[in-house]
Amino acid sequence: MLIHYDNNLRSWYTTTSINRWLGLHQTLLSAALVGAVALMVALSDSTLFGAVAITYAFTTSAMLNALIRTFAEVEQMMNAVERVREYSEIASERQEGEPLRDPHPAVRFVNLGLRYPEASQWALHKVNFELAPGEKIGVCGRTGAGKSSLLGALQAMYPASQGEIYYGEQPLSTLAPEAVRALFDTVSQTPLTFFGTLRANLAPLDQQHDLSPGGTDPQPDRLGDGDAQRNDERLTEALQRVGLGERCAGRLDEDLDRLQLSAGETQLLVIARILLSHRPLIVLDEATSDLSHSGMREMADLLYRYRPDASYLVIAHHLEPLLSLDKVVVMEAGTVVEQGSPVGLLANPGSRFHQLFARQVNRQIDQIA
Ligand SMILES: Nc1ncnc2c1ncn2[C@@H]1O[C@H](COP(=O)(O)OP(=O)(O)OP(=O)(O)O)[C@@H](O)[C@H]1O
Ligand SMILES: [Mg+2]
Repeated sequence: MLIHYDNNLRSWYTTTSINRWLGLHQTLLSAALVGAVALMVALSDSTLFGAVAITYAFTTSAMLNALIRTFAEVEQMMNAVERVREYSEIASERQEGEPLRDPHPAVRFVNLGLRYPEASQWALHKVNFELAPGEKIGVCGRTGAGKSSLLGALQAMYPASQGEIYYGEQPLSTLAPEAVRALFDTVSQTPLTFFGTLRANLAPLDQQHDLSPGGTDPQPDRLGDGDAQRNDERLTEALQRVGLGERCAGRLDEDLDRLQLSAGETQLLVIARILLSHRPLIVLDEATSDLSHSGMREMADLLYRYRPDASYLVIAHHLEPLLSLDKVVVMEAGTVVEQGSPVGLLANPGSRFHQLFARQVNRQIDQIA
């Protein structure tokens, strides 16, 4: 935050210095003009002509000042035009594609490779694994290993440079990106909230939800007027389940800004939103990084308890919460170097997962000692 403030001050200081420099030179120019005219008047013998000349000299220097300032302002405003032009020239993404045939498909990564535009290295290379319906897979690896890139490719944010991702039997490259994204509930490192009320943030699509454990209503109905009270109860229940019940009691129609939620509380709000949703694939990318370790566990357990049918892809730097999952995938330099049952891999001292885990535990011991 302070860095941004510093940068802002630095650019403000430069602009002010330029303005002062310009002001000084304009004043000098005006003084020289008026001085030259006054000298000419002193040398001539017409008083009337002298008075008119000096008046015009003052007006001309004021006009000169205004002209220079206007030029400078137009120059500044053209920056905005340049920016709009740059955005308008960005190619828009593919809109068309087939609809999804399977409402809850298995996801298969087949030799997936991803290279960002203008990057010299592969962010992902020969990634192969499968996420079956209802399966919970943890993805781990050091920073820069390609975990977030994997999610980007999965949600059709970047087209695969090599290989393919299959949703059921359909390759992602033939599917409509919107249809693919509609399969996902995502909690990322920076939780997404919207301008508007708490209610709009909890149920952005204004749908009716079944909050019972394991409730799977695949096609939520739109809300009727008579259901409003029942719906309020469901939203409140979701808030209570994530521990925001008291904090947000009776404030469903208040603007989110006024609630002033902390970073951790915002993540809880996003988890409450997911408890109310019915999308079949849930992605957690360092989802609970703003919560304490016990808070992380509780939130993950809540999701697994109330959304048991969903398939999960969980990215976590902290490895202990991955032990309860069905499988872990270990990534290194953009590729999958190991996959299997987390408990099984942990029991094998030669495995990468065991080594990552041991390094993490040792670091914790060092911090405490
Ligand atoms: N938008 C981008 N453009 C170019 N290169 C990128 C971009 N995003 C990521 N990369 C590069 O791709 C590689 C993988 O990055 P990625 O963000 O997927 O790693 P990660 O495993 O999620 O790391 P972290 O644990 O720090 O979140 C890195 O080398 C990174 O520099
Ligand atoms: Mg990441």
